[in-house]
Amino acid sequence: MASLLDLDEWFGEIDIYLFNQLLKERIQPGDRLLDAGCGEGRNLVYLLRGGWDVSAADRSASAIDSMRQLSEHLAPRLPARRFRVEELDALSFEDGVFDVVICSAVLHFADDEAHFDRIVEELWRVLRPGGMFFARLASTIGLEDRIVSVGPRRGRSPDGIERFLADESLLLSCGERLGGDLLDPIKTTIVQDQRSMTTWCLRKRGG
Ligand SMILES: C[S@@+](CC[C@H](N)C(=O)[O-])C[C@H]1O[C@@H](n2cnc3c(N)ncnc32)[C@H](O)[C@@H]1O
Repeated sequence: MASLLDLDEWFGEIDIYLFNQLLKERIQPGDRLLDAGCGEGRNLVYLLRGGWDVSAADRSASAIDSMRQLSEHLAPRLPARRFRVEELDALSFEDGVFDVVICSAVLHFADDEAHFDRIVEELWRVLRPGGMFFARLASTIGLEDRIVSVGPRRGRSPDGIERFLADESLLLSCGERLGGDLLDPIKTTIVQDQRSMTTWCLRKRGG
């Protein structure tokens, strides 16, 4: 059993903005949660330990293998089928089954705006009315003058990496179209003038 001081054992490498959502009690005991593009599950350590009803999807089979191992270790009651090798724009989960959908450091891998829209619409489909959508993604915000455009909404940030890059108006119009209300103002961290990482957090209307 981890002691109260073993914060890394409790929380792993959890994204601090997701941690902030936990502190705000927006992830409630018993919530059904999807980590979309989970990678090896760094954001799920606390939630698995705490007995949350966790599912995850990622296009990488090796990421899902690691995810399953983490879950077997921390939450052995969860069946392996909760962790699926899938494209996020074609999920096999049913409509409205999740109270919380997390998508951390994934949406900037979208090929283009149509792909971005398909992914977000699919994540929205599996979220129940009243549920919370939490995303962190690279954006142009605050570094507009320093990004080299390489196509529609694709750009190279000063760190030299090409990504799909959202801006505030895309996030606001997308949230409005989906029927979501911002839970927090759109918040951006600029990492030493190299790249912008934006937190986008919505409540799905209804429910
Ligand atoms: C940078 S990692 C982030 C992992 C984790 N969410 C985190 O915050 O540490 C991005 C992950 O998204 C997955 N991914 C990217 N685009 C995807 C897509 N269209 N469908 C499914 N998985 C995707 C990648 O395979 C990778 O595991």
